[in-house]
Amino acid sequence: MTTPDNIHPVFDKIIDRKTKQDFLNQKSKVLWFTGLSGSGKSTIAIGVEKMLFDKSFLTQIIDGDNIRTGINNNLGFSIDDRYENIRRVAEISKLFLNCGIITINSFVSPTIKIRNIAKNIIGDNDFIEIYVKASLEECERRDVKGLYKKARNGELKNFTGIHQKFEEPKKPFLVIDTEKLSKQEAINIVFKKILPLITNNKNE
Ligand code: ADX
Repeated sequence: MTTPDNIHPVFDKIIDRKTKQDFLNQKSKVLWFTGLSGSGKSTIAIGVEKMLFDKSFLTQIIDGDNIRTGINNNLGFSIDDRYENIRRVAEISKLFLNCGIITINSFVSPTIKIRNIAKNIIGDNDFIEIYVKASLEECERRDVKGLYKKARNGELKNFTGIHQKFEEPKKPFLVIDTEKLSKQEAINIVFKKILPLITNNKNE
């Protein structure tokens, strides 16, 4: 998108990302968890945030269920609303990124196209895609929020996995299979894999 008339961004005048990263002694990234509802995205995100906080990393969880009660409370689950949901979330994540803060995002973000919207806004280098994998059958068996039941009996429309497809990422940074791993194993793997990406090396 081009800059509209009469808008004069001040990006070059504000304290830059590197200065803020050095201040926080970390490198900012967007950890983007994608997967079916009930696959375990939010649970892993919360666990990873706790481990990072214990190691003095500053993070912000950005979670679909939370965001949809606030800034995105005017959006539903049509394809267009999901695009807008993800576009706004990606822009918010970028603000945190430029502030040196690591965001941990949990969004179903069901298609390659929708995740590309996020990746294009955030940038290839900073968009760290983590696929939280669990089969539809398993997510439906867990049905933590009772939503699959509602989707099956027609109370919910446009439900991912039932009425709308979920496309697996082709080349994610990481796949976390929550049917094979315990909660803590999953959290530990993510933590270990992302640590080198967010560790600050001031001489670089
Ligand atoms: S996204 O597709 O736009 O990325 P998002 O992650 O924000 O979705 O929201 C998904 C959450 O909303 C799910 O975890 C679930 O709790 C709830 N939800 C309610 N209705 C739906 C639906 N039709 N499809 C998927 N999730 C839904």
